[in-house]
Order: sequence, then structure tokens, then C-alpha cells
Amino acid sequence: MVLAEVIVTFIATLIIIYTYYKYVLLSYWRKKGVFYVEPVVPTGNIGSLITSKVSFDEFFYDLYVKYKDHRAFGIYIFFKPSLVITDPDLIRVVLTKEFKNFHNRGIFSNEKVDPLSANLFALSGKKWRNLRVKMTPTFTSGKIKQMFAILKICGKELVNSLNSVAQAGDRIEIKDWFGRYTTDIIMSIAFGVQSNCIKEGDNEFRYWGKKIFELHPFWRALSAFAPQVLNFFSIPIIDRGVTKFLTKTFRNNVEYRQTHNIVRHDFMNLLIQLMEKGYVEPEDINDIDKSPSTNINRLTFLQAAAQAFVFFAAGFETSSTTATFCLYELAQQQDLQDKLRNEIDEILKKHGELTYNAVNEMTYLHKVINETMRKYPPIPFLNRICTEEINLPTTNIHVPKGMTISIPILGLHRDPSIYPDPDKFDPERFNEDKLASRHHYAYLPFGEGPRVCIGARFGYIQTKVGLVNLLSRFKFNLDPRTTVPIISDPKSSVLAAKDGIYLTIKIRN
Ligand code: HEM
Repeated sequence: MVLAEVIVTFIATLIIIYTYYKYVLLSYWRKKGVFYVEPVVPTGNIGSLITSKVSFDEFFYDLYVKYKDHRAFGIYIFFKPSLVITDPDLIRVVLTKEFKNFHNRGIFSNEKVDPLSANLFALSGKKWRNLRVKMTPTFTSGKIKQMFAILKICGKELVNSLNSVAQAGDRIEIKDWFGRYTTDIIMSIAFGVQSNCIKEGDNEFRYWGKKIFELHPFWRALSAFAPQVLNFFSIPIIDRGVTKFLTKTFRNNVEYRQTHNIVRHDFMNLLIQLMEKGYVEPEDINDIDKSPSTNINRLTFLQAAAQAFVFFAAGFETSSTTATFCLYELAQQQDLQDKLRNEIDEILKKHGELTYNAVNEMTYLHKVINETMRKYPPIPFLNRICTEEINLPTTNIHVPKGMTISIPILGLHRDPSIYPDPDKFDPERFNEDKLASRHHYAYLPFGEGPRVCIGARFGYIQTKVGLVNLLSRFKFNLDPRTTVPIISDPKSSVLAAKDGIYLTIKIRN
């Protein structure tokens, strides 16, 4: 009798919770008269995401394909209403025109619980603005030119290590090799350490680098869409081991340089300037008086370490992904591979060696990389959070403070009405006339507006140097083990092939 009562009470409670969830909590968009995707209890629209049935790129791509004609529509992250925007004009409003209302990403950042999360990517409001102003001089072409020697060394190392594999005409998993190459570069320029990943393959630097991205989809979804939950329970999002390892590496090398008065032209040197002076020294000594005169606002050690961390996290996987997909496509189209190799040969011959200017003269290479990031944007969607309520111009949508807005980049990049025959890899899409005929906000591999990727220039150059080195020495073919088209990895934070990308590599004739 008692058991029966307990069961009845339990079922009644469940029905009440379900009814409240479905008809009260999940009624926001219906009441507002805004088109929305039908949610389910309790995950809203993100059930497939948090159970890893689909990847983030597939999730937003599907939404884009099905509902893009609505220009903007509602979804639910659990019971939290959120907006997806597909129209390039509205995207421009959010990313640029009304930036003051959308200046944060709304992802997890908590200096106390998780010191490395206080980085440029995750910070919000004034803290972000102050830091962005300080960091901008770090990424000028002059500063990047000074770091070119390191890129060259790592590029050469990559070729040397692949030589014996190529002589045997063997198969390689190319993403792993590019990951080792970009890890060595960023470890050198942001942490001042020679990580030797190209030579050693699976050492501790590579281990911790991979660990950064090994986040369960549930935690990744929480960090991206509901960081308040992590904040409330003081849950760090960055693996403790990663924090310990990278902080220690950064500290050791900063102290070594300070003790021995070592100055190298790299990101670490610029971060040391931000810690010691509060600003980055201008390249031209004549500009010294124009630099900010205040000595206050210096970065603390942990603040600087957080920026080294984000250079690593944002810089190595995105560039290695781009280089990987580029060779994946070129392996399938030998004529394009030859065309690019011819350009590389010609310009290297003209300059006598690989220089910063030589790489920047390779215009076909630039188009090939842009087309790669169109078809495979490493970060397949953007997020913003509304920081001040606003009526979204040209719609009937009122966006309240705190609402998340998502922009499905992959959907835009593969939209046949913007890019005809979108599955075709065609670098000529980036000819001047084609570029001019497209909406500027229909191509967003680096995002846009004041929060656009600060490292884009560096991302381009390290991707290009890797490719120039490999293509001038080797020929690549697709190994039958690699799927065409790729199957997206639901566990990866960036766009990635689930089973890797295998190519055969041969010394060129
Ligand atoms: C091909 C390479 C790269 C791609 C595709 C890429 C892509 C992106 C994207 C899509 C964003 C978000 C932009 C937005 O929300 O509007 C971003 C932000 C950012 N990226 Fe990159 N990135 C690349 C390379 C790099 C490199 C090499 C670094 C550093 C060394 C870097 C550092 C950052 C930082 C710090 C932010 C946050 C900027 C801010 O909020 O102020 N990225 N990146």
C-alpha cells in the first residue's frame, strides 16, 4: 500500500516537472512569436550534441540547412532560449555594427578557479578590451616577420623528419605531423622552449597539447552555452594537469630569460614586456614616445601565462587543421597540387630562399588556403552573448541581456546559393572579382568585428610555411584508408576527421 503511494507520488511529481518544463520553461519563443526548433525535455535542442551523436559542426550545419530562410530562429540549450543567426546582414549587426550589445563570447572564464581561463578568448567586458588593446601590437606584420626564423627552422625539421618516410613512399597521418609542427612553433615562441615534437612524436608537450582539447562534449556544451553553472559550482574547465604543466613551463623560461637578460624576438618576449612595462615596445624606436606612458596595468605572471596558453590552444590546432585539410584536397586533385607546387618553385627560385616576403608573394597559395578554410572552417561556429538588450534590426526579435547567439559558419561556407557547387574545392572562388561579388560576412574563418581572431596573420604564415616546405619537397596522394568525404569527429572541438587523414608521401621527381 505504502509502496503504491510512493510510486503514484513519484509519477505525479514527474508529470508536474515535465509539464512545467515543456509548457512553461520551453514556451519562451512561442510566446514571443519567433520561429523556433521544437525542443524536447530536458535537453532542449542539444540532446544529440551532449551525447556525442553529432559534432558541433554537424549540429549547426543541420540547423543552417533546415532553417536558414528564417534568417534568425530560436533554439533551447536545455531550457535556456538561444538564438541562431544565418543571414549575413544580421551577422554583421551582431559582430560589428551593434558590437556594444554583443561584445562577449559568454564562455567560461574564472581567474580564481581556473587562472588560465582568464585569457583573451574567454575574457569579457573591460578586462577583455584592456587586454586586446595591449595585445594588438604583438601581432603586427613587423613582429611576425621577426619570428619568421623560428617558423623556418620548424619547417625544415618537418621536411627532414619526413624524408625517410617519403623515400619508402609510406603512409602518414598528416594531422599528427602538422600538430607536431605547430606545437613546436608555438611552444618556442610563446613558452620559449624547444619542445621537439616533430622529432619525438609523442612526448609530454604533445600529450598536454592534445589534452587541452579532450573535453567531454557535455562540459564543452556547458562551457559554451551555460558557463554560469561552472562558475556557480567553481568547476575548472581546463584540465588541472594542463594548467600545472604549462604554468610551470612558462614560469621556468620567463625566469631564465630575466635572470640571464635574454631577449628573443618572440611572443614570450612581448609577454615579458607586458609584465614588466605594461605595454609592448613599438618596432620603430622613433615611435617610443607614442607608446602608452603608464607603467600601471602591467600583466601579472598568471595573466601573462593565460595569454601564452591561449596562443597555444587557439594557435596550434586551428593551423594544423587548415594545413591538413589543404593537403587532403590537394591529394585528390593532383592538377591543383602541381599548380601550387609550380608557384612555390618559381617564387623560391626568384628569392633564392624561403623568406617572409617570398611566402607573401605566393598568391595562389593564399587562395588555396582560403578555399580550404571555406570548406573546412577549423572553428565551425561563432558565439556571442547579448550584453545589453536590443531589438534586432529588420526583425521582430527582441534580444534580452544574457541570451546566447550562435553563427553557423560551416553552413554559410557550404551554402550553394553563396558558393555554387559547394563541395567542389576550387581556389578560384577567391579571385578578386568573385570576392567582390560576395557578402563580406559570408566568409568567416577568423570571425569578424572587434573580436576577430587576433592571430590570423600568424595562423596564415605558419600554415603556409608548413605547406611550402612539404610541397616543394614531396608529392602527396590519398591513402585508401581515408574516407571521402570526411566523417566529422563528434569529440573534437575543431573541425576534424574522425578516423584521421592518411596520405602517401613520396619524394618529388
Ligand atoms: C588558421 C588559423 C586560425 C583560425 C582559423 C582561427 C580562428 C579563430 C576564430 C574563428 C576566432 C573567433 C573570432 C570571433 O569570435 O569573431 C578566433 C579568435 C582568437 N584567436 Fe584565432 N584562429 C587561428 C589562429 C590563431 C593563432 C595562431 C592565434 C595565436 C597565436 C590565435 C589566437 C586567437 C585569439 C587570442 C582569439 C580571441 C580574440 C579575442 O576575443 O579578442 N588564433 N580565432
